[in-house]
Amino acid sequence: MYVGTDIMIVYFSATGNSKYVAHRIAEATGDWARPIEELRWEKHLEAHAGGRLGIVCPTYFHGLPANVINFMESKKMYVGEGSYFYFVGTYGEVGGMAADMMADILKKRGLKLDAKYSVKMPDTWTPLFDVNDKAKIAEINNAAEKQIDEVIEHIKNNDKGDFVRDKKMKFVSKMTYKAYEKARETRNFEVSDACIGCKLCVKRCPIGIIAMKDGKPVWTTEQCIMCLGCYHRCPVNAINYGKATIGKGQYVHTIDVDPEQ
Ligand SMILES: Cc1cc2nc3c(=O)[nH]c(=O)nc-3n(C[C@H](O)[C@H](O)[C@H](O)COP(=O)(O)O)c2cc1C
Repeated sequence: MYVGTDIMIVYFSATGNSKYVAHRIAEATGDWARPIEELRWEKHLEAHAGGRLGIVCPTYFHGLPANVINFMESKKMYVGEGSYFYFVGTYGEVGGMAADMMADILKKRGLKLDAKYSVKMPDTWTPLFDVNDKAKIAEINNAAEKQIDEVIEHIKNNDKGDFVRDKKMKFVSKMTYKAYEKARETRNFEVSDACIGCKLCVKRCPIGIIAMKDGKPVWTTEQCIMCLGCYHRCPVNAINYGKATIGKGQYVHTIDVDPEQ
């Protein structure tokens, strides 16, 4: 089975921002949005001649999430003549080089990224940022609507170019991205006694590496993609990234709030 002509937007989203953007694009273009977790067994990614293929995901440490890199490098890709290939990176503060990294991956595979976009949304990296101010979060999401509309207009017109906002100098982004490797260590996670053993974190980990031991979550690999989905979704806020996230609040976009929460 291959990822055929009707699957035209592939997204990764830990906390719903990128999912929302992917679905807004899908609604406006009639293209179909699918999460990368659902496509993990597919061997091919394909855009038919004259078709469209979009990748939407968050920006991590100014670059691409590790699972997105792995996905893009491991799939066979067939991009037909005259098709339009674009990338949208959602981000909180710095758009950085995520789109450039995507273009580089594709270039190595003999493919060309036609357009690079970014959309500013609430920042889920709570070791640094605080998401407690719900009015501010709503304001950021409201402001994102216009940016998403602009991206949609560009996509509909098959516009080519680099439309990424809030880039930093490449060397700054390269240095920042180096820190991702260490930040990905799962020993950073701590689970408090507030944990109720509901297993939501196990269920929603996009790479399936959380297990339960003695009624509490444990991370079964030394590194994860550090999406913080487990932290943000925990119904009792029992998961923390060391001390850095304590009191910083939790955020999941309204498109993706779990019914259990
Ligand atoms: C590990 C991690 C690193 C992040 N690094 C950046 C960054 O370098 N620049 C930025 O603007 N936002 C950064 N963010 C924020 C996310 O890119 C942003 O909130 C994104 O919209 C989340 O998308 P999602 O809800 O689809 O997962 C980071 C978030 C996480 C979890």
